[in-house]
Amino acid sequence: MQMKTLRERAQVYAESALSELRECSSTTQIEAFYASHLGKKGQLKALRNELKTLTPDEKRDAGGALSAMQKELESAFAAQQKEIKKATLDAQLATEWLDVTQQVPRNTGSIHPLNIVQKQVEDVFMQMGYTIADGPEIETEWHNFDALNVPQHHPARDMQDTFWVGRDSQNPLENYVLRTQTSNAQIRMLKEHGAPMRMICPGRVFRNEATDATHDSVFYQVEGLVVDRGISLSHLKGTVEVMLRELFNDDTKVRFRPGFFPFVEPGLEVDMWWEYTDKKGQKQGKWLEFMGAGMVHSHVLESCGLDPNEVSGFAFGFGLTRLVMMRYGIEDIRHLFGTKPRFLQQFA
Ligand code: DAH
Repeated sequence: MQMKTLRERAQVYAESALSELRECSSTTQIEAFYASHLGKKGQLKALRNELKTLTPDEKRDAGGALSAMQKELESAFAAQQKEIKKATLDAQLATEWLDVTQQVPRNTGSIHPLNIVQKQVEDVFMQMGYTIADGPEIETEWHNFDALNVPQHHPARDMQDTFWVGRDSQNPLENYVLRTQTSNAQIRMLKEHGAPMRMICPGRVFRNEATDATHDSVFYQVEGLVVDRGISLSHLKGTVEVMLRELFNDDTKVRFRPGFFPFVEPGLEVDMWWEYTDKKGQKQGKWLEFMGAGMVHSHVLESCGLDPNEVSGFAFGFGLTRLVMMRYGIEDIRHLFGTKPRFLQQFA
């Protein structure tokens, strides 16, 4: 039997190599294929080495065929390799994908009911041209009491059982208290900016109270102050009525009674008519004491360097915490200062 020529054997080899290549489906397999066929010690190289044993004519014939075959194998290899890379990547993407636009559920919290109502109060007063003022929570004895016409042995001091921070000095400007009322902002603002003045100061105040459903040693107030030429009680009355109608509703009834506060003269207590549904489902109503107010005392104006013969003013102060409780029908103040999100989130 006649031996097969190199060219013929190469032909058979090429076909089997190509079908082996088509079977490769992973990077490992195709790398192994390369080493065994196209690499330095591969089968193609071995066939090439046989060229040396041939006559020049046979060499030319077989050599050309081997080169063409190598080209074909190499390009088939490159195509298959590309295919495998793509398939590998696709498989990776299918299992490892990540949606970068996905919303991760987060607990975003909510606005505290005190802040909701504070904002509403601020909006009402800003519409009437008021400034929103701030004052220190650690205040001098002078700003918290003396300048507000509450001198050292005045009984009104006992009504506000106070947290003293330092009480060693004879000079009330050197003793410190946690402010018992936002009225300190009246003094700070008047001393700094003088008249005309139109401001409210919402803020935290502190009193040495035993805690129960309606009292806490920390609570919030809103102070109001208007000082200008020709300010009278009717301005105060109109302002309070506008505020309560904006915050509650148009037919909110308001009542003014005489009351005593050392920093106003005359002083007033303002009540509002409160309608509610009782435990039996019956509609009920009663007068609720809502705020203290009055015409700014001449001593206060003088403490702030103003002349009571030139300017006059009105002031008021109410409990923001109390207002929030009324607005939402919250019966226990401790809910508001607790840390239960499920309670606090109901109002946002
Ligand atoms: N500062 C008073 C308190 O805490 C409230 C108050 C009453 C403020 C009358 C005022 C006012 O400005 O005129 O009880």
